[in-house]
Amino acid sequence: MFKLVLLGPPGAGKGTQAVQICKAWELVHISTGDMLREEIKRNSDVGKLASEYLHKGELVPNDLIISMVQQRLAEPDASHGLVLDGFPRTIEQAEALEKLVHIDMAINIAVDSDLLLERICNRRTCIHCKAVFNADDVSGVCTRCGHKLYIRDDDRPETFINRLSVYEARTAPIIEYYRETGKLVTIDGNCSPDEVFKQIMLALAEKIDD
Ligand code: AP5
Repeated sequence: MFKLVLLGPPGAGKGTQAVQICKAWELVHISTGDMLREEIKRNSDVGKLASEYLHKGELVPNDLIISMVQQRLAEPDASHGLVLDGFPRTIEQAEALEKLVHIDMAINIAVDSDLLLERICNRRTCIHCKAVFNADDVSGVCTRCGHKLYIRDDDRPETFINRLSVYEARTAPIIEYYRETGKLVTIDGNCSPDEVFKQIMLALAEKIDD
């Protein structure tokens, strides 16, 4: 079973594609952003520590996130295939991941920056099942589970701009890291979600044929 990493700037569509990939290949979706938001909701110690970083659009410290992912990967369902969405985000995290699990492919969803802000401003997230939608396609209620949709605190334009510059400075270098390992596949993320998904499916089919 595949063990995949999804890379890409904020709003690239990592979460959207992770859900589709997991459905198609019966993989487990591990989103560090969702895990952190859950901790914040529970007001746990990790949540208390992480909340200020998320609010500002900064990365939470490497040791905190690496230990959280390490614990998640130790759970039984993670021994099958998985999609990591939002991790790794620094070279240190990528190196730590290598010691935890063998990654088959790093899929980089490349999107022009002018499209990203528009997507982020239009994103609506389900308070319950965490599904994401474009505001134009929904009425304020999740079409999957019927719960309310909300706007993520870090989707404010000023926070998004910081997230993007943090991405460029700290996360973009891991694209080169995965290129050097021969595991990088870059997908054109400027098209519709269905078209992005088709490109990913093609890359995975080619991987099987290898
Ligand atoms: P996280 O939740 O991971 O946020 P992110 O990486 O910034 O990514 P997003 O969730 O914003 O976007 P996405 O690429 O998943 O896009 P989506 O599919 O939703 O992290 C949040 C914070 O947590 C970080 O800032 C940091 O503080 C902390 N954190 C998390 N992981 C960490 C780590 N490893 N280390 C340190 N800190 C960490 O799509 C966006 C919108 O566009 C949606 O409305 C969607 O419907 C729409 N859309 C998607 N695809 C398309 C398309 N092809 N065409 C048109 N619209 C599209």
